[in-house]
Amino acid sequence: MRVTDTSDLWWKTAVFYNLDVETYLDWNDDGVGDLEGLAHRLDHLAELGVTCLWLAPFYPSPQRDNGYDISDYYGVDPRYGHLGDFVEVVRTARDRGMRVIVDLVVNHTSDQHPWFRAARSSPDSRFREFYQWRDDVPADQPANMFPDVEDGVWSYDDEAGQYYRHSFYSHQPDLATDRQAVRDEIAKVIGFWLQLGIDGFRVDAVPHLIATDDGAEHEFLQALRGYVSRRSGGGMMLGEVNLPYDEMVPFFGADDGDELTMQFDFVANQALYLSLARQDAGPLRAALAARPALARGNQWGNFVRNHDELTLDQLSDDERDEVFEAFAPLESQRIHGRGIVRRLPPMLDGDPRRIRMVYSLMFSTPGAPVLFYGEEIGMGENPAVRGRGAVRTPMQWTDEAGGGFSRAPADDLTAPLAVEGWAPEHVNVSRQRHETDSLLRFVQGLARHYRASPEIGWGELTLLESGHDCVLAHAVSSSTGTLVAVHNFAPDGRSVDLDLAPLGLDLGDGVRLTDLLGERTTPDEASAAGRHRVELEGYGHRWLRVLRPDEKRLV
Ligand code: NOJ
Repeated sequence: MRVTDTSDLWWKTAVFYNLDVETYLDWNDDGVGDLEGLAHRLDHLAELGVTCLWLAPFYPSPQRDNGYDISDYYGVDPRYGHLGDFVEVVRTARDRGMRVIVDLVVNHTSDQHPWFRAARSSPDSRFREFYQWRDDVPADQPANMFPDVEDGVWSYDDEAGQYYRHSFYSHQPDLATDRQAVRDEIAKVIGFWLQLGIDGFRVDAVPHLIATDDGAEHEFLQALRGYVSRRSGGGMMLGEVNLPYDEMVPFFGADDGDELTMQFDFVANQALYLSLARQDAGPLRAALAARPALARGNQWGNFVRNHDELTLDQLSDDERDEVFEAFAPLESQRIHGRGIVRRLPPMLDGDPRRIRMVYSLMFSTPGAPVLFYGEEIGMGENPAVRGRGAVRTPMQWTDEAGGGFSRAPADDLTAPLAVEGWAPEHVNVSRQRHETDSLLRFVQGLARHYRASPEIGWGELTLLESGHDCVLAHAVSSSTGTLVAVHNFAPDGRSVDLDLAPLGLDLGDGVRLTDLLGERTTPDEASAAGRHRVELEGYGHRWLRVLRPDEKRLV
């Protein structure tokens, strides 16, 4: 069966939300978030408009890489609960109209996984071939993904008497995914979680996963996707592939998109930050113009921040320095020579206009939005936490001590809370639920409009002329209609004369544009020669629904 035969392409218009159970809500007050806590917050997520949760790794793990070092693929870390709690979360989420995807981390295991323990203990173990071994280090070994922590990708194991490969930390040995025995085990892991009711996977470190040089590298991803689709008609795979577009495209699969279902758009993400730093829409516009077309069943995942460093590795050295200077002036705010360990609101000095403009962009860019927990209320980072942990502080629910995350003493919390102006006292869900003009309400509105505008997920992108370098004007059109969005990267207002001719629209024919977000302060007007004038405030943003004379859509 071809992938596009599947009628239920739900991910095309899904609102994704990534959270780590460990830092979301601690129900038993031991200082660690748990599945029971998450179950009690599913209503918050449903109200926000989320339609698919992406749960970060919650499996048993020594926790030396935030759970991305797995020691058992078939369980739940006992600190978070047990499989029964997991199934309860999946069932309750579905009841609220939300699907669940989980992390599939099979590029590597923890060195504490029973497979690796057996493998290193004897060359005769049947698990030896599950990993990659050598007697010496090759002269031209590739750089490690954490170059400031690890010297390379080969480390010597005393017990095994050989070197083993690790693309990431040395405690994360790479699996030999070219071996059939390993692939069979991975298939079982996939089958297990699908059987528990999930709808797919966020696939970790994809380019590393299939880095073979025998020319058959994509056959593995095809097999995985085929297996997911056979076991679950609506099952999908959202892959992490941080590469230029031309190198990303093959991971969707050459044959009608039969490998990864979705990929995060790292290119547009990095261009977004360059645009923000320069107050110039150009870099983002160029990235969107260069976006390759996708097969019908594939989709982009648009994001502003994730749980890792904000990587800027695809920018040139000069461009990266510009972004560093603007948003991470301190050395301590940077990591691995390529990224920033801050969340968006502190980078933008908390300016609500600018923060809203960025999320408006994320929701109106063709694709599906992927939120990182806490973005809906504008959480900041804790600069005292070293490395990527700075952005992984507990969710802030109330202004109480412990932020409503936990009643355990501060010293027992699994991670420290954000501090100072970003502390729960100032930024929390409870307060923003009651404020009509809060960021929470704003993001909720974006999710609502996104869900009512399927053209954003399905439609064609047209970049419009705005006449201003600082203004990005784009339209998405499909059989369901056309949405025009306008975003101002500069602090001062602009009168934008939009030329709608590329959309084949003639404003003289009774076509109207209606403001969906209701942010308008000055009435728009149809100006000469089919142009439409929009008054945009500093860092302003607008969503304009194109209404044809016979339009019945409710706006
Ligand atoms: C990518 C994950 O996003 C990151 O958090 C992790 O450290 C590496 N993969 C290694 O698993």
